Amino acid sequence: MTKTLTDIQAELAGCRRCELCETRTNIVFGVGNPQAEVLFIGEAPGKQEDLGAEPFIGAAGQYLNTLLALAGLTREEIYIANVLKCRPPLNRDPHPSEIEVCTPYLRDQVRAINPDVLVTLGNFATRFILQTDRGITGLRGQIHLTGRFSVLPIFHPAAAIYDHSKGPLMEDDFRLLGRLLEKRRAEKTERGLA
Ligand code: URA
Repeated sequence: MTKTLTDIQAELAGCRRCELCETRTNIVFGVGNPQAEVLFIGEAPGKQEDLGAEPFIGAAGQYLNTLLALAGLTREEIYIANVLKCRPPLNRDPHPSEIEVCTPYLRDQVRAINPDVLVTLGNFATRFILQTDRGITGLRGQIHLTGRFSVLPIFHPAAAIYDHSKGPLMEDDFRLLGRLLEKRRAEKTERGLA
């Protein structure tokens, strides 16, 4: 039977499966509409998220909120989770062993929410979802299919804050997301599923 988000969060409570438990303030499970059409997947909580127990509430999150509008989306409509649920010290990259022990929770979240579209933010989320070693630069800007999901890899918002040349590409990708959603909704209405 598919676990609910509440079941998964209860399983994660007090997690000590990797060393990040020693330095985290809070486990950052995920937030949003449990029946979201779109699931956004980031890398790992940063400082603000570790303190506030919610994904993307720092500077990258503020930027993400402005981009969502380009796709015709609001934070309330979507769900956001991360590959890692605990903050790596000094925001270092996730270690492979941490990804291995933490991603079963993400897989369960994907099953529970059962979205149409997965938006992977940055290399770590994209590599995990598409099971590829390819980098985000070569994968963004196109819709990929995995299982029954459409996957749209997008630069991580924090990377685009540091490198302004990525801004226009980010905006293009959020507009592409908006068109993808419109198309999927129109197809559902045609099939009488909406
Ligand atoms: N960066 C991420 O990848 N996730 C967050 O929740 C915040 C910043």
